[in-house]
Amino acid sequence: MRFDYIRSQFPGLGTDWVLLDNAGGSQILKPVVERINEHFYSSNVQLGGTYPHSMLAEERHEKAHLDLMRWVNADDPSEIILGSSTSLLVRTLAGNFSRIWKPGDEIIVTNCDHEANIGAWRELADRGIVVKEWKINPETFELEQEELKKLLTNRTKMVAFTAASNVLGMLNPVAEFAALAHSAGAMVCVDSVAYAPHRLIDVKEWDADFVVFSFYKTYGPHYAMMYGKREILDQLPGNNHFFIEESPYKFQPGNYKGYVQVRLFTYC
Ligand SMILES: Cc1ncc(COP(=O)(O)O)c(C=O)c1O
Repeated sequence: MRFDYIRSQFPGLGTDWVLLDNAGGSQILKPVVERINEHFYSSNVQLGGTYPHSMLAEERHEKAHLDLMRWVNADDPSEIILGSSTSLLVRTLAGNFSRIWKPGDEIIVTNCDHEANIGAWRELADRGIVVKEWKINPETFELEQEELKKLLTNRTKMVAFTAASNVLGMLNPVAEFAALAHSAGAMVCVDSVAYAPHRLIDVKEWDADFVVFSFYKTYGPHYAMMYGKREILDQLPGNNHFFIEESPYKFQPGNYKGYVQVRLFTYC
């Protein structure tokens, strides 16, 4: 009976097919589908208006950021940036940093992360950023802090690693890695895609600067979020229109609650 109830919560399980692609993504929950539909039926309008649909849209939009803020134990909804995938959010982040880092600055990637948290950083080599590789111990399949210490210098800006490996299954001691990176003045970007379906994320306990994961691994839609420390986000230029300067909107091209005011300002 209990299993019947659980199965009934997943539309994808209601067919005579057995969908075994769970390593790639989870099935979406029925209440999630219903909430998304509900939004498109009743509040699919611009944010920032004074008419009821727009106010409802804004309320829902803000609630989503607040709920996600609580989920990962962040301090402020502006620290939650939404995007279409983890790969694209990391790319957005790397692109932002590429505009403020200088040639000769360094980043460290691992040889055991998903491409999402490697490729976007590696491409910054084209801009003169030095990319170093933190290799796992091939005997233990662990990332060792002694190895990281050898790679860190006073030019290291970012250490990108995963909380849980999607290939090897190991969990990394994120808080310890972050403390070591911070002791050298570097930030950390933690891929939590394979971690989020199994463990609660606490960005404060980790003291992580950036944490990224995808909702399609946690019974949601093909969509993703990135947590970023507010004081760092404030220093980044953003990707949205030049007049959108506040987080999360400056990193989330799309609907923006200031548009109505901007339009009035522009046309008056
Ligand atoms: C550990 C890990 N990181 C990142 C990704 C990429 O996520 P997205 O498809 O949202 O870019 C995956 C996808 O399977 C993954 O397993």
